[in-house]
Amino acid sequence: MTDSLWWRSAAVYQVYVRSFADCDGDGIGDLAGIRSRLPYLRDLGVDALWLTPFYASPMVDGGYDVADYRRVDPAFGDLDDFDAMIADAHAAGLRIIVDVVPNHTSSAHPWFLAALAAAPGSTERERYLFRDGRGPDGAEPPNDWQSIFGGPAWTRVEDGQWYLHLFDPAQPDLNWRNPEVRAEFEDVLRFWLDRGVDGFRIDVAHGMIKAEGLPDVGPVPGGRQIGLLGKARLPYFDQDEVHEIYRAWRPILDSYPGDRMAVAEAWAETPQRLARYIGPDELHQAFNFDFLDATFTADSFRKVIDGSLAEADLVGAPTTWVLSNHDKPRHVTRYGDGPAGLHRARAAALLMLALPGSAYLYQGEELGLPEVLDLPDECRQDPAFPRTGESRDGCRVPVPWSGTAPPFGFGPEGGAPAWLPAPATWREYTVEAQTGDPGSTLELYRAALRVRRDQPALRDGTLRWLEAEPDVLAFVREGDDGSAIACVVNLSGAPVTVPVAGRPLVASAPLDASGSVTHATPAVLAPETAVWLELSSVG
Ligand code: BGC
Repeated sequence: MTDSLWWRSAAVYQVYVRSFADCDGDGIGDLAGIRSRLPYLRDLGVDALWLTPFYASPMVDGGYDVADYRRVDPAFGDLDDFDAMIADAHAAGLRIIVDVVPNHTSSAHPWFLAALAAAPGSTERERYLFRDGRGPDGAEPPNDWQSIFGGPAWTRVEDGQWYLHLFDPAQPDLNWRNPEVRAEFEDVLRFWLDRGVDGFRIDVAHGMIKAEGLPDVGPVPGGRQIGLLGKARLPYFDQDEVHEIYRAWRPILDSYPGDRMAVAEAWAETPQRLARYIGPDELHQAFNFDFLDATFTADSFRKVIDGSLAEADLVGAPTTWVLSNHDKPRHVTRYGDGPAGLHRARAAALLMLALPGSAYLYQGEELGLPEVLDLPDECRQDPAFPRTGESRDGCRVPVPWSGTAPPFGFGPEGGAPAWLPAPATWREYTVEAQTGDPGSTLELYRAALRVRRDQPALRDGTLRWLEAEPDVLAFVREGDDGSAIACVVNLSGAPVTVPVAGRPLVASAPLDASGSVTHATPAVLAPETAVWLELSSVG
């Protein structure tokens, strides 16, 4: 990897800290656990890690409720553990991106405690969005906004005022029109940049500014405002003024050496509006959730790929790709679960890793983990679960590392049970069980990431589509040095003719009955299978 603009084509591995590796035996993953697994991540072949929040937090929303932005939660370690982890990561050639959660604090944050103790109209309340209610006694919420986790987005406090929380009541929204809030977060960015972080993932990056006057949304189809995300502009998302914040953040990032970057978790109604977050005076990247939302069909993927590349062209920025994260059911399960879902997920991984731009991988997808659908209700910790019946816990089950019984080496022998139980069937998914097995998903990811790293065509090359049969995606990445790699994905249920001749480098399933992936040009590609071919002459 060259040092210049590393993030443009990086493979970024998302570490959901609570569920990655538990070093101290309390059943919760921690920074020392990440540090102990850095050799695994280096050998996997990723370029950077994105760590979900590890800051002091009551953990109502898995750490996305921050009580102190400059302190590590004791469950995850301390700042010394962070410093040791980042030093080792950098020594291993891995960059570190941390989450910043600016839309809301925890209700346990000293600012919110001070706001509760202060009177309506006080400077303490001005850091948040406190309002009087509607109706004769102010007993109705100030407007009709709904929480993304279900129920009204307002909670009433003792003196009768209400405060806004787009998420859980334990996550009060900050008032980003208050200069003190802006100054505080600029300082938080500097705090972590000084400690050496290479970038930030900005949580709810489109949410910090609310429309003046906090107008009602009005009636919505289906009754749930969340359903409009990304499809219509809500008065609490994607307001023009939010861009001022990023125009202030960018010079801070640019003032540090070494290409520090920021990636937005932003949703907007059109690709054009999403593109406004990206550029030389704002953020470097935004997540591309359309790829995650695509169905496993050639048409769906092709539409998203073409749309995303066109959107990236609008701003001269590389695009990003993601198949799974800590908020969505794992893609093995979305694609049908069981062996069929895994077979498709492996093909989708090769498609994603062959596309131009950066790829965000979610921990455990390299093991082919499915969503855990049958977690006992009493284990579920997602705050949305009691209100909506939907829970994101099934994709947050701790990573299985080794052994034959839960928690599969997640923590030390004799430690506390993992905070979420892994199913007994995960014995076949452990890192230990898959290492060295050429048919395993782990070895597929390792091979693909190695090729992606070694081949300039896959890192910086242009993309050109090839003619192919229906339900087949075929394209060539061509590097400046004349190298060319084709990616062919058969999304149909029948074998298809491979439209280009080349030497197979990686395939998501065996290319012939012998199980080989390294024989000469395959003539046909099995159903729902992907292959990368090194081309001697471009077809
Ligand atoms: C995070 C979620 C979190 C929410 C509120 C999202 O963008 O990815 O996990 O619940 O923000 O902070």
